[in-house]
Amino acid sequence: DNLMESLPAPRNRPGISIKLSALHPRLEINQRARVKKELVPMVFELAEMAEQANLGLTIDAEESDRFELVLDVFETLFKHARFRQWSGLGLAVQAYQKRALPLVHYLIQLAKTYDKVVMLRLVKGAYWDSEIKRAQELGLSSYPVFTRKVSTDISYLACTQVIGNNLQYVYPQFATHNAYTIAAVVEMLKGKGLFELQALHGMGKAVYCALVQENKNNYPVRIYAPVGKHHDLLPYLVRRLLENGANTSFLNRFADQNANINSLITPPTEIISRYPKKAHSKIPLPVHLYGEGRRNSLGLNIHDPQVIAELEKAIQQSHKTKYKAHCLINGKSKGSGKHDVINPADQDDIVGVCHEAETDLVSEAIEQARIGFDILQQLSPNERADILDKAGTLVEKNVSRFLPLLVREAGRCIPDALSEIRETIDYCRYYAQQTRQLFGVNTQLPGPTGEYNELSLHGRGVFACISPWNFPLAIFAGQITAAFAAGNAIIAKPARQTPLTSQQFVELLFEAGVPKQCLHLLLGSGTTVGDAIVRNPHIDGVAFTGSTQTARQIQHHLNENAQALRPLIAETGGQNAMIVDSSALPEQVVKDIIQSGFNSAGQRCSALRVLFIQENILPEVTRLLTGAMDQIRIGDPSAMSTDVGPLISDFARKPILKHITHLQETATLIKQVRLPNDLPNGSYLSPSVFQIDSLDQLTREVFGPVVHLIPFKASKLDDVIDAINQTGYGLTLGIHSRIEKTIRAILAKARVG
Ligand code: FAD
Ligand code: 2OP
Repeated sequence: DNLMESLPAPRNRPGISIKLSALHPRLEINQRARVKKELVPMVFELAEMAEQANLGLTIDAEESDRFELVLDVFETLFKHARFRQWSGLGLAVQAYQKRALPLVHYLIQLAKTYDKVVMLRLVKGAYWDSEIKRAQELGLSSYPVFTRKVSTDISYLACTQVIGNNLQYVYPQFATHNAYTIAAVVEMLKGKGLFELQALHGMGKAVYCALVQENKNNYPVRIYAPVGKHHDLLPYLVRRLLENGANTSFLNRFADQNANINSLITPPTEIISRYPKKAHSKIPLPVHLYGEGRRNSLGLNIHDPQVIAELEKAIQQSHKTKYKAHCLINGKSKGSGKHDVINPADQDDIVGVCHEAETDLVSEAIEQARIGFDILQQLSPNERADILDKAGTLVEKNVSRFLPLLVREAGRCIPDALSEIRETIDYCRYYAQQTRQLFGVNTQLPGPTGEYNELSLHGRGVFACISPWNFPLAIFAGQITAAFAAGNAIIAKPARQTPLTSQQFVELLFEAGVPKQCLHLLLGSGTTVGDAIVRNPHIDGVAFTGSTQTARQIQHHLNENAQALRPLIAETGGQNAMIVDSSALPEQVVKDIIQSGFNSAGQRCSALRVLFIQENILPEVTRLLTGAMDQIRIGDPSAMSTDVGPLISDFARKPILKHITHLQETATLIKQVRLPNDLPNGSYLSPSVFQIDSLDQLTREVFGPVVHLIPFKASKLDDVIDAINQTGYGLTLGIHSRIEKTIRAILAKARVG
């Protein structure tokens, strides 16, 4: 206390730090407008209170995808006339971010412009593991953070140097427990001006006690102590565990009796010079995640406001194009019947027009495909693989061609559409790799002397690929690329609702080199065109994704109409469950329920339908879930801020509405999201959660945003799995548990995909 009082402001002022994510439930860049409107007044009020109480107020640094928003809020307050005379507002800067140094320059510039001191806490960064994982998931072109620990140390020193030259504009707070970094900071800033050091409560005591004693309190050290209940602080504590448990951590190495002191105090610039490459050799770039032989699909950084603006613009501009889809036989446009393709999010928006097949076109296409199959034999497996790789690259280059169509024709939200485009690229590359591995080699088999035995794989003939509207690009592409990879000619029949996307993809495959005689596109409904295809005896196999009922009919026709036995590869629905036991983290459970149950308005074959929650945590999960559902934004998917778009059509909505009416009479409503008043004229439906007593109450798959919740007692977990098994088939199963034994036991017993 004495020290504090003897020091000039702002050193003598206690401080408070806040995480903006704790103040707003949707601190996400795609909610930018809303966040600014709601969050700025809150932080404004806190800043006023801090100023009045003579406290410093620092905004903590969090995940890099929130950074734009955090900077928005900081800047708004820093520039505000109300705080013109106040230098108590601070921002944490993470040295592990590649943009740390430009950010320091930027803050100095801001301070110069507004002629006041900026309080800057320099840290290394506490979210490194999640930054790496997230960038890999998104398939980003590079990491936002450095991959070598010493690069972060160097970045820290580089920022220190710039700060040291601008101490009239910055009051720096060096937050680190690393003795080398502390020593370097002290050396670099000695005699230059005011600064302080900071430590987390419970950490770095040895080094700071030594420093303070040795230097007669010349270097004030502020302690950052987290405030809150154990439960609320769990993520903070886990970050400390990850940090201090890492073998690169200074404190971890310091505590190691066998550690060599020289290795702890080697300048990071010297260490980095020993590496031939600056990037870590064991942390491949996201694009190289799958090793040699298959590139990962490139993703877009949808947390970058510029990227968001470009995507929204591409969708807007697509309104200028009047799209057309035709059947394609040997690459030539065919088809007579004409119908408009309507945007399910806004039925007043006619996206394009589609020319459908008459039944005689079906036999013509199949006849041509038989010729195509012979032509295909002239392509080696490696040539087929090269074509598929080229197709992947073309899709990657044509995001702006597919994205608007997926959004407007299928009502996909932008992030879902982007994932679907990436999935398509992955299919192309995955099957290219499979072609090389499986078809490019002739395996010699052992046998008796004088015999020559060889195994090689070949296409069967003409495959029909019949796909649904819910993944109009990825499933359509997955079926076709697999069939082509395996050396088959193809009759492609996409869903009636999404012909435009499929036409674009077929044209792209031609561009990549798929011979036009080998792939024919037939547009139309399942009951006419689809039916005629599967009844045709010259089809050699079918790949189908859709309802179990239709799959059964196809199987029946395939058995009926030809001499040879013909395969059906079917991906159908199922009763997808999630089991949540009491060890699960409710916050994470709620995120996953919402994502799995309501993304794509529940129109995914893998979507969550039945949620089993152990009854002990039911109240807490329900409380969080209902709150989180209030935050769901339903609307036109062409806006990035939309979380849930429409169902594909009024026709698809009808049975779900009927089911909901039935549940209103027979089940307990937990939560139903209110539809906003200003929705366009589309097939929207409120996401809802109903509590039911048992799985028997569900007799069929409900293909929409309805989650059925069933509480269970811990002792009855086996009954839950039995009930799931009795549904016949669960396409997917989710498990939320932190008990390895429980997870293993469920996996061993459950009969699901
Ligand atoms: P060191 O052992 O020298 O450094 C460890 C750090 O190096 C890791 O935390 C990570 O950032 C980095 N690192 C580790 N491995 C790699 C790698 N392979 N490649 C690149 N970098 C790597 N963090 C925040 O994110 N936001 C905050 O608001 C924040 N506030 C803090 C406030 C105080 C008072 C303190 C002391 C720390 C704060 N931190 C904050 C935590 C800080 O970011 C560091 O995580 C922590 O202090 C460990 O760094 P160090 O210098 O003490 O230890
Ligand atoms: C964290 O919350 C200390 O702000 C840092 O991990």
